[in-house]
Amino acid sequence: MELRKLGRTDVHVTPVAFGAWAIGGWMWGGAERNDAISAIRKSVDLGMTSIDTAPVYGFGLSEEITGEAVKGIREKVQILTKFGIKWDDTRGEFFLATRDNQGKSIDLYSYSARESVIRECEESLKRLGTDYIDLLQIHRPDTTTPVEETMDALNTLIDQGKVLAAGVSNYDVPLMERASRTTVLASNQVAYSMLRRDIENDVVPWCRENNVGILAYSPLQRGLLTGKFSPDHKFRDGDARGGLSWYKKENIISVNNFLDRLRPLAASKDATLAQLVLRWTLQQPGITCVLAGARDPEQVLENAGTMNFTLNDDELDFMNKELNKLEMVS
Ligand SMILES: NC(=O)c1ccc[n+]([C@@H]2O[C@H](COP(=O)([O-])OP(=O)(O)OC[C@H]3O[C@@H](n4cnc5c(N)ncnc54)[C@H](OP(=O)(O)O)[C@@H]3O)[C@@H](O)[C@H]2O)c1
Repeated sequence: MELRKLGRTDVHVTPVAFGAWAIGGWMWGGAERNDAISAIRKSVDLGMTSIDTAPVYGFGLSEEITGEAVKGIREKVQILTKFGIKWDDTRGEFFLATRDNQGKSIDLYSYSARESVIRECEESLKRLGTDYIDLLQIHRPDTTTPVEETMDALNTLIDQGKVLAAGVSNYDVPLMERASRTTVLASNQVAYSMLRRDIENDVVPWCRENNVGILAYSPLQRGLLTGKFSPDHKFRDGDARGGLSWYKKENIISVNNFLDRLRPLAASKDATLAQLVLRWTLQQPGITCVLAGARDPEQVLENAGTMNFTLNDDELDFMNKELNKLEMVS
């Protein structure tokens, strides 16, 4: 698979990457470890060698599984991980009350002060079983720490060779401007899908103008855009999707109707709906990489197939026209 350069750094990622949130189980109603390991290995075999994880995904579990899966093939993969969402520290800014995979209550805090960034990086290296991280990203803004302090900590880790490039996630334009004055900003990881396009107004133009990569997360809107959910689908305990407005009955019906209208195009490309949706996302201006979450090798095989075809202008126009007709309730 082709590799794409992240901004002005020397780090490259695959246009479709393996998203490792669900394999940590947290907010996804659990996950199967063996399936997860096979999924990552399948991803690498298919050339989808970039893997995006985070400490908070399963409170260390996603990173641990990633480390186990890439043991012996570290040089073939690009590991993208994060810091700054803490479950074992109450400094910083309260972010979310949640439950771990065992149902225990946990409060999450955004905290990215210098010593915390350095410590978190060491912990990630240990869990991942590696001595370097390709891209280390702040997971979400921390209003209690100056952006410059966080970016300077990333510069230290780059100087030490523990991190190859610095990235941000969920940053708006003013925060990216500040970050890029302190470090060479590789990328911003942001929510982007056919159903969630607000970054097109500000983040995308800024990143294009300033040569900063965009990693699009939840491109399948957490599975909704595969068309596999029936309107009365019951999610497992601990699967947060059940509480999201995207998954209201009316919205599942509207999205499935929209996807049905895309089926003839998908068939003509010998593609599935998920592949068509991922391909559309990847071909939008400024998008460097789509992070496609997957739980098992079958989903990986399908998602990696996004690279086997392209959409021409007429096909993109047709999809956009159908998308404009889609109405969702909030
Ligand atoms: N920086 C951030 O704040 C942030 C936030 C969210 C995500 N992310 C990153 O972005 C990645 C991707 O986003 P995401 O995982 O939220 O959502 P996503 O990629 O839109 O959806 C992933 C989920 O959809 C289902 N799925 C995926 N491929 C499928 C296929 N081919 N057929 C059927 N079902 C399929 C799977 O769940 P089921 O099998 O359970 O349906 C999978 O876990 C994450 O893994 C994470 O690395 C980052």
